[in-house]
Formats: sequence, structure tokens, C-alpha cells
Amino acid sequence: MEATTTTIDLLLTAKRVVTCASPGGPKRGTALTDAGVIEEGAVAIDQGRIVAVGPRAEIEARYTARSRFDGDDRVLMPGFVDPHTHVCYAGNRIEDFQRRIAGATYQELMAAGGGIMQTVRHTRAAEQAALIDQTHTRLDRMLRHGTTTIEIKTGYGLDTGAELRMLDAIADLSAAHPCTIVPTFLGAHAIPAEHTRNPDAYVDLVINEMLPTVAATWQSGDRLRRGGFASPALFCDVFCEPGAFDLAQTRRILERAKDLGFALKLHADEFEALGGTTLAVELGATSVDHLVATSQTEAETLASSSVVAVALPGTPLGLGKSQQMPARVVIDNGGALALASDCNPGTSVCESLPLLLALGCRFLRLQPHEAINATTINAAHALGLGDHVGSLEPGKQADLILLDLADERELAYRFGPNPVRYVWKHGQLVADNTLLPLATIAASGGIDAPNAPRDR
Ligand code: NIG
Ligand code: FE
Repeated sequence: MEATTTTIDLLLTAKRVVTCASPGGPKRGTALTDAGVIEEGAVAIDQGRIVAVGPRAEIEARYTARSRFDGDDRVLMPGFVDPHTHVCYAGNRIEDFQRRIAGATYQELMAAGGGIMQTVRHTRAAEQAALIDQTHTRLDRMLRHGTTTIEIKTGYGLDTGAELRMLDAIADLSAAHPCTIVPTFLGAHAIPAEHTRNPDAYVDLVINEMLPTVAATWQSGDRLRRGGFASPALFCDVFCEPGAFDLAQTRRILERAKDLGFALKLHADEFEALGGTTLAVELGATSVDHLVATSQTEAETLASSSVVAVALPGTPLGLGKSQQMPARVVIDNGGALALASDCNPGTSVCESLPLLLALGCRFLRLQPHEAINATTINAAHALGLGDHVGSLEPGKQADLILLDLADERELAYRFGPNPVRYVWKHGQLVADNTLLPLATIAASGGIDAPNAPRDR
């Protein structure tokens, strides 16, 4: 009797299929070293979802595909998940960057009204369409570098109306851009200039006006839900740091947010350890991020909690600093580590997760497979989306990338050029980074040909 096969939309094959499969939650401790590699593997996709993953011969025997793509001797893996960004902003901070090179610190610029407040002024002044357009261009570049799911924080509005406009922009981007977008309310990103003489009055505003208004807007199902957000709860984040929000203020904001139904994130220990990491564990945050100044004891507490530790190696690097998060302490004590870009105009102006993955291996002493899991399945769990994205497992969104590499460890070994060749989102090809052969460019008349790109 002839075996029957199921017809599917798409079949992808490759010499190495890196699944990052982890059915029981984020990968912790030694489990991070296993990226679930299938040699000569295949992925069956139907209606935008993964139907099956396994050895090529087995999958080919079970499925007939309407369309198929052979990745040959390259690597197929889940799209990257970036669980910490401030990518929605207007303008730039090139002047601050030059001042820092000349010796000013990030905190000095912030105390002088520059830093985050500079971007707040740019973002408040920008037309909504321009804010969306500039951010869309950044998301396009991130998608081309393999990011298929991305968290975007507010925090450059810092009054109720301007924060809601940022959430509106993020909802419009979510509706318009192929990436899955997860929004985070970060009204407590900095004390705005109009409240520097009485920071607690701003904390009161966040607690009594912003959080209830934002929560009601999220729950009402109209204004923000047009973004089709995948996340069930809106995140609330606070920048817990001297010069921003102290531990008591952070606790007040996060406790109120939790009462209102927000899921929690926290910027802790970027420069100084104020106890934010312990607070994040106590309040059951989904993730705690930065952790550069975290003590051994707090890192161990974090490792034995359910909170995902998010390392942002681009941030100290962007600030020209050598101290990095004690990632090995977290992993070696059984913790769940994720990596993110922190893409923002001040500290980490980097849209490439492959580059950050390679830096993470060097500065945080991650093994290549640990870093791959940290930018996929664990990053998905840092967004509460571990059941939907971040690995190649049946039922998950068909978000995949094909690398122009023969071995996934080269993602860490090489750094600089974009290793991503193709990107599929919900089973659709959304980015093709194939370079035109030089002979084709010459035959078309070179770069002055009418259809050739003229800039960049
Ligand atoms: O994560 N530290 C606070 N927030 C960002 C920086 C944002 C900015 O400088 O505009 C960060 O590093
Ligand atoms: Fe940040």
C-alpha cells in the first residue's frame, strides 16, 4: 500500500537545522549548551506555522509541499528575538557621542539635561508620521539581520499624552511591519526636566495618572489592540539607577503596575546596584535587564528564580566600558540567560543581533550555542512568548532565517558582516540579502544604471 502524505505550503531543508527546542520553558544552566541541531534536517510549514521538524528523509516522506526551498550546505534556525529595545525615537545623539569620546560620562550628560531628555525633546517635537517612518526603517534593518520578534519600549514621551502617542506609534508599526512587536510602557525612564526639582511628583504622576490611563487603554481593546499584539499583558519597565529612579520609587511604580495587571521588566544595575535585581525577583518580573554591576549574591538569587536575566553587551561597549554582566555566574548557577540589543540612540546604537551574539561570546564568555539559545528561545521567554516564537517546534510561528554559514557556531566566531541570507516570517519570505554578482552589476552598466541604488 502506498504511504499517504500530507500537503503543506512550504518545506525548508538545510545541512544543519538548529531548533533551539525547549518544550519545558527557557533553557537554564547546562541546557543552554544544547541548541538542538538536526543534521540534514527539514521544517514543514503550513498556514504560517511549523507543522513538523526532523531529519530530511523522514519529513520528505510525510509531506508534499506546494513550495520548497533547499538551503543546501547552510544553516536554518529560528528568527532572532530581541527582548529589550528603545528603537522608537526621533533624531539622534551624535553630539552626546562626541562629548563622551571627549571624556563626559553618560550620567553627566543626563544630569545636564542631555542624554535621554535630548531624545525626549526630539520625540515630543516629531510628527507622528516621521516617528513611525524613522522607526520602520530601523525595524527593516533589524529584520534583515534576522530579528523577527522585537520588544519596543516607550520612555521618550514622559508625559501622559506623549507616552500614549509612543504606544500609538508602536501599535501602528506592529500593524504595518512584518516583525512581531511587543510593547513596553517605560514612563519611568527619566525624570523629565519639568519635574527635576520634585522627582516624587513625577513618580506620583506615573502611578496615579499614566499607569491607570495606559492600562485602561490597553484593556479597552480599541486604540492599541489594532497593533494585533501577541503579548497578553502589557509590560511595565522602570530605569532603576541613581539619577533616574531609586529603589523605593521603583518599588512603588512596579507594585502599582502589577496591581493594574501589567507584566514587569526592570532596568537594574546598569551602572550601580541599588537592589533592583532582588526587587525584580521578589515581584516576579518576567525579566531583569542590564545587570552589569550586579553582585555575586544577587546574581545567584536571580539564577535560582524564574526571572529571565537579560544581558545587553552592546551597552557597556557603546559607552566604551569594559565591565560586563556576570553572565557566567547566572548560567553556572542554573539561571536562564537571554541576550538583547538595547538598541537606543544613547548607549547601544546597534541593530544587529548577530553582532551582539558574537560580542556576547567574547565579553560574557558564552559558548556559541549558549548565545544562540540566548537570542532565540530564552529571549522569547523574556517576552512571555516562549510558547509562540524562538524555536523550531510544531505549533510555533514559522519565523526562520537561513544563514550563509556552514556551521551555526560561525555566528559567534565571525563578526561584522551580516550572516543572514533569507528571513521568513509566518512562512513568508520577507527579506532576501542576496548580493548581486559583480558581473551582473557591471552588465547593467554599473552603479550609475537608472535602477541602481544611489545612496547607502
Ligand atoms: O537601556 N538606561 C536607560 N535606557 C537605555 C538608554 C536610553 C537612552 O540613552 O536613550 C539603556 O541603556
Ligand atoms: Fe534599556
